[in-house]
Amino acid sequence: MEVKKIYTLRNGVEMPGVGFGTWKAKDGEDAFNSIISAIEAGYRHIDTATLYKNEASVGKAVRECGLKREELFVTSKVWNKARGYEKTKAAFEKTLNIMGLDYLDLYLIHWPAIPLQFEDWNDINLGTWKAMTELYKEGRIRAIGTANFYPKHLESLMETEVQPMVNQIEYHPGYLQQEVVDYCQANGIVVQGWSPLGNGAVLGNEFLAEMAAKYDKSVAQICLRFAAQNGVVPLPKSVTPSRIASNLDIYNFEISDEDMKAIAAMPETGFSGWNPNEIDF
Ligand code: A2P
Repeated sequence: MEVKKIYTLRNGVEMPGVGFGTWKAKDGEDAFNSIISAIEAGYRHIDTATLYKNEASVGKAVRECGLKREELFVTSKVWNKARGYEKTKAAFEKTLNIMGLDYLDLYLIHWPAIPLQFEDWNDINLGTWKAMTELYKEGRIRAIGTANFYPKHLESLMETEVQPMVNQIEYHPGYLQQEVVDYCQANGIVVQGWSPLGNGAVLGNEFLAEMAAKYDKSVAQICLRFAAQNGVVPLPKSVTPSRIASNLDIYNFEISDEDMKAIAAMPETGFSGWNPNEIDF
């Protein structure tokens, strides 16, 4: 698959093909400085969530980095406690307020409501989606989507007026969720990959280290390029400036088809343990 530096979502909105992850970046200097480093290194796509408790620092960095707001693509996510129509609307206002921004580029439902937790899980998801759809139509969010949704969670949203544009899932060598990726790509939903380095857990993998040596790249760059070649937008997180910069440097080499297949065939490695069918949060 051709590697895109920029993806065009189904509504024409453009999204940079690598995003900067901020999960576990502590609010305050850690998060602020890492975003400034990322923007200096060339990232134009930043991913946060209400859960990460760093929206204030992310928003501050977006406002103070020296770029125009429209040069950046900023994502946040509604947390599980705010599911449903009214709570989602209120959560969105709170997020914009905390971030000090006028709009978001992308707003995602962080996790689906699921049958294990709620009899009316589908209605809850549809209520959340209705709120997001209205905010989208009012121009307060440029694109809307989901995170951690399986096809069965997406199906009813696909029947609504505005279909999801993005689904963000755990994605890294050793955990590819290929059925989810295939469903999304067949239905015009761009897949973003969270923890594209397995939250660090795949970086010591011997096979990936061999691949990295073969291409004269780091294991992280192999993971990120692998995602990009599979049409998945990786969201690497780091608070270390040299890593932040090297994680964006994935456009000057190509993994062969044979090696792509070999990486895809790796046994399960580095899975977070969060299966959207079983979560209890
Ligand atoms: P740090 O933030 O201390 O630099 P993921 O994006 O898959 O969740 O992985 C994030 C983890 O991987 C963080 O612990 C981060 O550490 C580490 N990390 C990010 N980029 C690199 C890299 N290029 N080399 C080694 N470790 C990295």
